[in-house]
Amino acid sequence: MEFSNKIIIAIDGYSSTGKSTLAKKIAKKLGYIYVDTGAMYRAVSLYALQNDFISKDKFDKNSLVSNLHNIELHFQYNPELGYSEMFLNGKNVESEIRSLEISNLVSTIATVTEIRQKLVEQQQKMGINKGIVMDGRDIGTVVFPNAKLKIFMTASSEKRAQRRYKEMIDNGENVTYESVLENVNTRDYIDTNRNDSPLIKAKDAIEIDNSELSVVETFEKVYQQVLRKIVL
Ligand code: DC
Repeated sequence: MEFSNKIIIAIDGYSSTGKSTLAKKIAKKLGYIYVDTGAMYRAVSLYALQNDFISKDKFDKNSLVSNLHNIELHFQYNPELGYSEMFLNGKNVESEIRSLEISNLVSTIATVTEIRQKLVEQQQKMGINKGIVMDGRDIGTVVFPNAKLKIFMTASSEKRAQRRYKEMIDNGENVTYESVLENVNTRDYIDTNRNDSPLIKAKDAIEIDNSELSVVETFEKVYQQVLRKIVL
């Protein structure tokens, strides 16, 4: 569907609330670009892991920061999948960045101001022509504080862990439900308590708790809000 007045749609919220599923569906319906900013933080985490700057028990933040200029990130549209995949220094890392190992490191990486500045600048450039749906933690508060529509997604941590666990098992990962729940809770804590751009609901964001909503019901609810903003 094409509307002439293109807007920016910011979708923020807790991990595993279905932000990216929702954002992809909205972008597809509107013919907008979809940007998964979590993938960018995950790709930086993969770079840090591969270069031995971070592991389970250490983080050499200074070395990572002084190597930031060696990290090139871009999205490439995959017509078969219908969305863009994350490339790190020319390599498709879309599947590698979804592992539990990366999920356990990414919130620490996302606390670093120099990394956030680099990624936020890149994200703002992607939104210059509007017609974009971007999901993350700071999109409505920091990246696009003037976004026309802001959605803030929540759901109980147990529901979120159940969904993420199923997704990982379906992808062939060897994980336990308890380890996924622990990851969800730890990330919530770090994401909401960090000093730089913590996860908070923007004043003008519409909050949606989808603990008891299906993917289709969540989409319908948000799409009503989209239409109000585009048609008005
Ligand atoms: O959406 P996700 O679970 O793939 O995000 C991974 C991590 O990246 C998340 O724990 C917090 C961080 N993140 C962030 O700090 N800011 C964003 N805009 C997106 C993600």
